Amino acid sequence: MTAEVKIFPGPRALVEAAALELKNAVIEAKESRRLFHLVLAGGSTPKAFYQYLAQSGFKQSIPWSQIHFYFGDERSVPPDHPESNYKMAYDSLLGSLAIAEKKIHRMRGENDPAQEASRYAEEIRASLDTPTGKLPRFDWIFLGLGTDGHTASIFPGVTLIEEASGICATCRHPETGQQRITLTMDVLNRARRVSFIATGKGKASVVADILNPSPNSQNYPAAEVQPNEGTLEWFLDAEAASEQIKNDLS
Ligand code: 6PG
Repeated sequence: MTAEVKIFPGPRALVEAAALELKNAVIEAKESRRLFHLVLAGGSTPKAFYQYLAQSGFKQSIPWSQIHFYFGDERSVPPDHPESNYKMAYDSLLGSLAIAEKKIHRMRGENDPAQEASRYAEEIRASLDTPTGKLPRFDWIFLGLGTDGHTASIFPGVTLIEEASGICATCRHPETGQQRITLTMDVLNRARRVSFIATGKGKASVVADILNPSPNSQNYPAAEVQPNEGTLEWFLDAEAASEQIKNDLS
């Protein structure tokens, strides 16, 4: 699997490009009379992307009713909690779209994590009409990247407790101990399209390590994102790509 690396001068150019690609993909789905199953990430970088999508100049250009929204992970907090990924996505984008509530598939952070992992797996299965024993195939999964190489809520060295179908799992944040619910790596790798979005100098080293794996490069969960039959791309700004650019020039 070779990842397509897209480097932009800055965060604004990055989100503009990602938004345009999302628009094209959703319009294509509408023209083919397909729903579009989109997985959102948490974090400040994805938040900037959602805020751009919500800008009136762009918002009108996407047929939002074609999309079913899901979450790659959630913190075990209520939906109105400042750390909720749902709250972040709702405040940044979803709340400004006139879309049916049933098209926003929220991981219920207020529930017992293990029970919610099972419930959410069944909600995904029903929504994507996934046959028993198969893993759901999302149209597009956006992922953020932690400086420790985590993505979604899959952290280095942290064992995931998967529910029976292997679609969702629970774990605790390695530093804060906060309970998390996350899609599994197998589900991430089942998607038609997976895109990391990363900006800033702080991500440069981990990005370069992941894009240039070596025996001594740590086992970053983000490096395990290798879609089996889908595409993988990295939307990076120049700062997050700076180590990679140096590698390419050396
Ligand atoms: C979460 C996210 C997490 C995030 C990365 C990047 O729930 O925290 O899913 O995986 O995407 O930590 O976050 P930043 O963009 O804020 O660095």
